[in-house]
Amino acid sequence: MAKLKVAVLISGRGSNLQVLIAACAAPAFPAEIKLVIASRADAAGLAYAAEAGIATAIIPHRDYRSREAFDAALTAALERASIDLVCLAGFMRLLTPAFVARWRDRLVNIHPSLLPAFPGLDTHARALAAGVRFTGCTVHFVRAEMDSGPIIVQAAVPVLPGDDAEQLAARVLAAEHQAYPLALRLIGEGRVRVAGERVEIIGADRAAFPSLLNPSG
Ligand code: GAR
Repeated sequence: MAKLKVAVLISGRGSNLQVLIAACAAPAFPAEIKLVIASRADAAGLAYAAEAGIATAIIPHRDYRSREAFDAALTAALERASIDLVCLAGFMRLLTPAFVARWRDRLVNIHPSLLPAFPGLDTHARALAAGVRFTGCTVHFVRAEMDSGPIIVQAAVPVLPGDDAEQLAARVLAAEHQAYPLALRLIGEGRVRVAGERVEIIGADRAAFPSLLNPSG
């Protein structure tokens, strides 16, 4: 079967991009990254794309007079590369409803919380302030409202005594690095279906995941 043609959009560090590149390097992986787009020329993650020989484009939002014009430039670049699926990986720009509609169910995002809890910024500090026992990450299809849309994969991590936001962020990031390649593989295998704004995973193993309890005792 032909591999899914993927574009990854980044704004910064690019550690999720790095794990997606590593996952796609396996010959049997059902997706390939054809294009990496950065919204800033200094996005550190661009180096991972260059190392892997992946085409890159820098589309600085400051060069565009409106969000609509910026998003139209994004779509033009994605269409030129015949992209099937767009993965946002630390892409810190709000996309217009028109862009989100154009790529409906072909646009996914990773967010460092168990959505719908803690959308937006400063998720880890807010999780600590709320005293939740678990937080985690979510890979979801994108809808027009920020950090919303049908959930594909979530991974939970415990909040441990004495955690600060940085420690919690590191634990969640490790979970992100598991969750995003898993979500991409499921989509590439054609096992992800959106029905009534919820995701069905075809062939999911119901018995595979025990419940988590925190604190233990
Ligand atoms: C990740 O933690 C990702 O979940 C978050 O930005 C970070 C990017 O890290 N995204 C959001 O907060 C989107 N709302 P990375 O550049 O190392 O992949």
